Amino acid sequence: MNIDQLCDTANAMVQKGKGILAADESTGTIKKRFDGIGVESTADNRRDWREMLFRTEPAMQEAISGVILYDETLRQSAVDGTPLVELIRRAGAVPGIKVDMGAQGMAGFSGEKVTAGLDGLRNRMHEYYDLGARFAKWRAVIEIDAHRPSAACVTANCHALARYAAICQEANIVPIVEPEVLMDGAHDINRCAEVTEWTLKHLYMELFMHGVVLEGSVLKPNMVLSGKKCATQAGVEEVAAATVKCLKASVPGAVPGIAFLSGGQSDIDATAHLNAMNASGELPWNLTFSYGRALQAAPLAAWSGKPENHDACQASFNHRASMNSLATLGQWSAQKEG
Ligand code: 13P
Repeated sequence: MNIDQLCDTANAMVQKGKGILAADESTGTIKKRFDGIGVESTADNRRDWREMLFRTEPAMQEAISGVILYDETLRQSAVDGTPLVELIRRAGAVPGIKVDMGAQGMAGFSGEKVTAGLDGLRNRMHEYYDLGARFAKWRAVIEIDAHRPSAACVTANCHALARYAAICQEANIVPIVEPEVLMDGAHDINRCAEVTEWTLKHLYMELFMHGVVLEGSVLKPNMVLSGKKCATQAGVEEVAAATVKCLKASVPGAVPGIAFLSGGQSDIDATAHLNAMNASGELPWNLTFSYGRALQAAPLAAWSGKPENHDACQASFNHRASMNSLATLGQWSAQKEG
């Protein structure tokens, strides 16, 4: 393990003014996104869509520090034969790879899930490194309702995240550890705060037990939000304050940066919340984005699978990327949305 290299990569991923593009939708998830715009999910269409994003200037050079890829994309080349990984590198961003095998039903705990993918991961890591990946992602999902999550679900998922992180670092790949407390549900913001804090505290205990070097890792958490179906929706300042409070109580300052998922928030909410946190004062870590939907929904709709919409799609991606870049500096405002 090369700790200096891991730390350099982690610091590059969370550098001020930039964030991560999560373009690692599994084949099933990207099909759902394409269904939404009436595009068939073929390997070529998936390649065309992602190539268009990775060639977007100046978003890729100025606002994106890293791109999370799905296994297929890590192996794909652009129409002109350039590996997609090379397009990302040329833009100055770090290529990464989603390595988990998805959240699967957990035996004995109806409705709860534990993320699969540890078997054989140690061997797969070396190939990913050779293909150009310098960081990885593993997502765990924690659901909230009156009886969930169970302690077993939180424990099992944090344990798997720690084993994954240790395997990554051994292969000189920075682990993004992603424990996502879902925003689905009718719970209020306090319940989200309680479950998020519980999960993060357990996660950092497991990472410690597995010898994970925090300086060479990145956390990808949910923000602390009201459940989508909760009658009372917390406002931007309340979300920012609750999220920062929860992170300060749970995440060691040795972690270089925290890159949030968007998790189903609107594009503007995801930007406004990140901005409010970064405008709130000095923090122990850089706070940035690692958005999937909140970066891609608008350009995907602008593209709609039509080649003539290429420029409109890239303009839309440039806009969302620059708005989120401003949010990492606490310099965004609704007026700048235009
Ligand atoms: P969203 O921002 O759409 O939640 O996706 C981020 C991600 O990578 C989830 O694993």
